[in-house]
Amino acid sequence: MPEDHFGERIAERYDESSADMFDPAVVEPAVDFLAELAGGGAALELGIGTGRIALPLSQRGVHVHGIDLSEAMVAKLREKPGAEAIDVTIGDFATTRVDGTFALAYLVFNTIGNLTTQDAQVSCFHNVAAHLQPGGCFVIETGVPRLRTLPPGQTFQVFDFSETHVGIDEYDVANQGLVSHHFSLVDGTWELVSMPFRSVSPAELDLMARLAGMTLRERWSGWNREPFTSESTQHVSVWEKPRN
Ligand SMILES: C[S@@+](CC[C@H](N)C(=O)[O-])C[C@H]1O[C@@H](n2cnc3c(N)ncnc32)[C@H](O)[C@@H]1O
Repeated sequence: MPEDHFGERIAERYDESSADMFDPAVVEPAVDFLAELAGGGAALELGIGTGRIALPLSQRGVHVHGIDLSEAMVAKLREKPGAEAIDVTIGDFATTRVDGTFALAYLVFNTIGNLTTQDAQVSCFHNVAAHLQPGGCFVIETGVPRLRTLPPGQTFQVFDFSETHVGIDEYDVANQGLVSHHFSLVDGTWELVSMPFRSVSPAELDLMARLAGMTLRERWSGWNREPFTSESTQHVSVWEKPRN
């Protein structure tokens, strides 16, 4: 099993520290997008966490099954109203199989990058393809690697600076590695959490989809179907498993 970077300490503060991402203005367009693609079928969330997307999607009548490595994150999900309607399997979403087939699989909030090797990311696409019914879709929401704004010779980029949080990304360009360092002010003390990612371009993800027998159906820069352009800093991509 890969290392669990979302243990008790992270899970305890996850919803609070990601409060912006729980804003209905952020969640609702994502849930609209995913509910439409599910089309009445079941959905598989990779890295379900504390249920930020799964709970409102389930409340729309979509049956959601989640996979997550972190018992602590899932325990937080289980405390919330409506969680009883959601199935969860503890495991690595690159390899863990669950029963049933799905109209939709989705992996949001940069979580594909939590798989820190190309092999694991490729394996994730194969795993998703094995769970999808013909015509089913796989959706990823993640950032575009920010290499255009990284001057030659530099490896650090500040992505957030406030009185309670400083976020610094550390790039290992040659290896597509990225460590996100979060300095957070918690109860008057600065705490540091550093989390490793593998940054991956949209084109490389398309190739992984192709290796798993899926093809790109749509790519947007956000859940409201904003156009994806050279300036986009993130993307919402949809790959489809062939119907036959
Ligand atoms: C950034 S959180 C996102 C949680 C939720 N999807 C959301 O949008 O709020 C990433 C989640 O993915 C889980 N995760 C990371 N790598 C994983 C892996 N290889 N297998 C299963 N879960 C993983 C973490 O435990 C965590 O709950």
